[in-house]
Amino acid sequence: MLVGSRSLLDSLLQVAVFTLFPRCIAAQTTINGQTFTNGLAIIDAPSPSNPGHAGSTIPIAVDVSGDGKLAPAASLPGSDLSTRYDFLEIYLVSAQTNINITVSAGPSLLTNETGSTVKHLNWPIPTCIPAGDYNLTFYEASHVNGQGVFTITPIPIPISNPSASGQCPDLNSLQPQPQASNPLSQSPFASGSTISPSSSTSGMITAAPTPALALTLTLLFFLSFC
Ligand SMILES: *[C@@H]1O[C@H](CO)[C@@H](O)[C@H](O)[C@H]1NC(C)=O
Ligand SMILES: *[C@@H]1O[C@H](CO)[C@@H](O)[C@H](O)[C@H]1NC(C)=O
Ligand SMILES: *[C@@H]1O[C@H](CO)[C@@H](O)[C@H](O)[C@H]1NC(C)=O
Repeated sequence: MLVGSRSLLDSLLQVAVFTLFPRCIAAQTTINGQTFTNGLAIIDAPSPSNPGHAGSTIPIAVDVSGDGKLAPAASLPGSDLSTRYDFLEIYLVSAQTNINITVSAGPSLLTNETGSTVKHLNWPIPTCIPAGDYNLTFYEASHVNGQGVFTITPIPIPISNPSASGQCPDLNSLQPQPQASNPLSQSPFASGSTISPSSSTSGMITAAPTPALALTLTLLFFLSFC
C-alpha cells in the first residue's frame, strides 16, 4: 500500500512537473557542462556545442559510476546486478553531411581502464569528414531496477574542416534522427531525481526520499532549470 501510493505519487509528480514546465522535458540535462543522460551514463566531456576540428582529437570522458553511486561491477558487461550497463557505444553522426562514423563500438569503452569510474577516449576526428554540424551520439543499453532501458544521447558538435580529404574508415549507414529509444524519464543521478536505482546485490545505493521530500526536491530541481 505504501509502495503503491508512493509510486502513484511519483507518477502524479512527474505529470504535474511536465505539465507545469513542458520546456523542461529534455532527453538529457546539462549541468555545468556535464550531461546527465536519461540512462546511467554521465558525460563529463565533451560539453554540448564545444567545437571540434578535423585532424585534432575530441577528448571524451564518461562517468560510468553514477557519480560514485553504482557498484564497479555494474559497468562491466555481463553483470547480473539489477542496475547495470549492457553496452555503451559512440558514433559521430550528421544529417547535414550524411555521415555516421564509429567512434567506439563493442565493450572496449566499458572494459577499458579497469577500476576507473571515468572512461576516457581521445578520438581523432578524421580529416575525411566534411565541415558541418554533427552529433556525438551515445547509445546506452542498460537495466535500471531490472527494467531494460535504451538511451540515445546526442551531444551537438560543430566541426570545422578547411579541406576534407581521403576516404573515411568505419562508415555506417545513417538512420533518421531522433531514433526510437526507451529512456528513463530523467537521470537517476541528477540532484532531486525521483529515480533511485537499487541493486539486488550489495554495492548500492541511495534510500528513496520520503514523498514530501521528493516533491520539494523535484520542484526545486525543475525550477532551477526552467
Ligand atoms: C583506453 O584508455 C586509454 C587511457 O585513457 C585511452 O587512451 C584509450 O583511447 C582507451 N581506449 C578505448 C578503446 O576506449
Ligand atoms: C550509426 O551506426 C550505428 C552502427 O550501425 C547504428 O547502431 C546507429 O543507430 C547509427 N546511427 C544513426 C543516427 O544512423
Ligand atoms: C542531432 O540530433 C538531434 C536529435 O536527434 C537531431 O534533431 C539533429 O538533426 C541531429 N543533428 C545532426 C547534425 O544530425
